[in-house]
Amino acid sequence: MKLHRVRVVHRERFGNHALIRYVWNDSPPAPGQFVMARPASAAHALDPFLARPFFAHDHEGDVVSLLFEVRGRGTVLLAEEREELLVSPPRGRGFEIRRGPVALVGGGVWVAPLKLLSRRLEQAGVSHDTYIEIPKSAPGEYAAWLAQGYPAARFVHTADPADAPGRLFEEIGDLGRYSTLYASGPAETLAATKRASEGRVVAQLALRERMACADGSCYGCAVPVLGDGERSYARACVDGPVFRAEALAW
Ligand SMILES: Cc1cc2nc3c(=O)[nH]c(=O)nc-3n(C[C@H](O)[C@H](O)[C@H](O)COP(=O)(O)OP(=O)(O)OC[C@H]3O[C@@H](n4cnc5c(N)ncnc54)[C@H](O)[C@@H]3O)c2cc1C
Ligand code: FES
Repeated sequence: MKLHRVRVVHRERFGNHALIRYVWNDSPPAPGQFVMARPASAAHALDPFLARPFFAHDHEGDVVSLLFEVRGRGTVLLAEEREELLVSPPRGRGFEIRRGPVALVGGGVWVAPLKLLSRRLEQAGVSHDTYIEIPKSAPGEYAAWLAQGYPAARFVHTADPADAPGRLFEEIGDLGRYSTLYASGPAETLAATKRASEGRVVAQLALRERMACADGSCYGCAVPVLGDGERSYARACVDGPVFRAEALAW
């Protein structure tokens, strides 16, 4: 996979989360697409060995941003990169823009792809509501940043991860007033969105299966799906990472 050397124009750190903006003049990311990213410095040419996947958080003019939680070696090094990164062009299948009104449902750092989605919905004149779950464990700095980044969103503060999806859907209320639910959140939120949407509303879920090659050749990101009533596997990196809820065999 070809990685391009790009210039970092902005870096921010809030708690354990980081935002990086870089200049990108190639094909624009669609909402829900991801890029593979790694440090650009020669010292880290093979450290870590694989580039890491991240949703395109936003895209404005010629600047793309990534929003991520610092978790291990790859994200520690990315968060420290001051000058340049190596990134792939946007990859995978993202969200399909549908007529409104629609609801965006997110949680924690997994809200990352919803910013670009809400920008594109705005541009297409699709009315939308945004609901974001903030767990009690979320660092205050990150919660404050989310409130700033999503000024029109309704925030649902939750204390117990087990209750979080229930609280989120309580806040959303009647799903029948939406044509589509777009979800990007913890696994529990995605599963709850799939359950809640069944037979009532279209749901599109952004998955984040672990990836290695990210070009469809290793099957490391296999996702169980249903096609013509048969169970099979799709590859999240090329067939997703966004899937219609009813296609997933969870
Ligand atoms: C399509 C896609 C889009 C993604 N977008 C984002 C994003 O916008 N923001 C963001 O913060 N992260 C995102 N991720 C997850 C991100 O790729 C991982 O957090 C990153 O690869 C971790 O790399 P690392 O070297 O820092 O950590 P590692 O050392 O590889 O792992 C550190 C810890 O992170 C956990 N981890 C690694 N990958 C994942 C994963 N996919 N899901 C859950 N936990 C994981 C591991 O279990 C381990 O506990 C996305 C993943 C995919 C597949
Ligand atoms: S990561 Fe290799 S097939 Fe998807």
